[in-house]
Amino acid sequence: MNFRRIFLVKCLLLLFPSVKCSVTNWFYVAVNESALLSIAAAGSVYDVTWVKDRKRLLQLKDRKVKYYVNKEQCRCKIFLNGTLHIEQVVKEDSGQYTVTVYEQDGKLKAEEHTMFIVQEPVPQPILSAECMNKTVSVKCEVKQKTKNETFLIEVTQDKSKKIQKNATRLELHTRYSGAFRCVVKNQVSEKMVEKVINCSGQLDLYLILSIAGGVVFFVIFMILLIYCIRRKKAERLEDDGKCLRLKHLCFMLLTIHLNS
Ligand SMILES: *[C@@H]1O[C@H](CO)[C@@H](O)[C@H](O)[C@H]1NC(C)=O
Ligand SMILES: *[C@@H]1O[C@H](CO)[C@@H](O)[C@H](O)[C@H]1NC(C)=O
Repeated sequence: MNFRRIFLVKCLLLLFPSVKCSVTNWFYVAVNESALLSIAAAGSVYDVTWVKDRKRLLQLKDRKVKYYVNKEQCRCKIFLNGTLHIEQVVKEDSGQYTVTVYEQDGKLKAEEHTMFIVQEPVPQPILSAECMNKTVSVKCEVKQKTKNETFLIEVTQDKSKKIQKNATRLELHTRYSGAFRCVVKNQVSEKMVEKVINCSGQLDLYLILSIAGGVVFFVIFMILLIYCIRRKKAERLEDDGKCLRLKHLCFMLLTIHLNS
């Protein structure tokens, strides 16, 4: 059972001094689980009535239970301490539940409101990626089971993180390849998917080609240089000019390569 509660305090006391402070609890449960809705006010209870969306469900008075709805249909029962128990909850059980507690002398002891929300567990998200030029485009998607169903989606990569609330998809564009993780949550469950996406294939090829090209140019340059030096030694006087031209050619080739 998942009892995640968010207490939302609607205190109207400041605006209307005559109005009692009313507290609304938010209570989320996953479909098919069972739920216990308890009474926050302490002490014994004599007369308790549970109401869902203004429709009376049942009443516990002087230890006797009276149903106002079909018992099978509501799958509910009440404990002697006033706690309402709902079995195998369905989406339709969602609503505002109000409990009123009276003392034996008829004095109102407590009135509490609970927003009860039944959610489907999150479906498995789908993480996909596309390599575009030098960027990675990562997409995390969740298929809705029902309309209006939204999730909190979180896509992370190393230190970067992108979060989107009330969404069914989230896209992330980055220049870096690597491991991506997508986490999808609602109030009752979360699912995760991880994928390593590598878009550097093309980049690596360019790098290899340019290194190979550099090596080739360097080798040619060295051969020409050695050739020049040897020739220079042999024919120091006559062929100086020719060799200089050759040297120039070498430097030109090198410059062209470096500039590319
Ligand atoms: C709900 O739970 C019952 C057992 O507690 C199980 O038999 C049934 O298959 C479940 N239904 C769904 C839709 O998960
Ligand atoms: C009320 O009683 C039920 C069953 O005995 C128990 O599970 C639940 O925890 C009780 N709740 C409170 C608030 O005491």
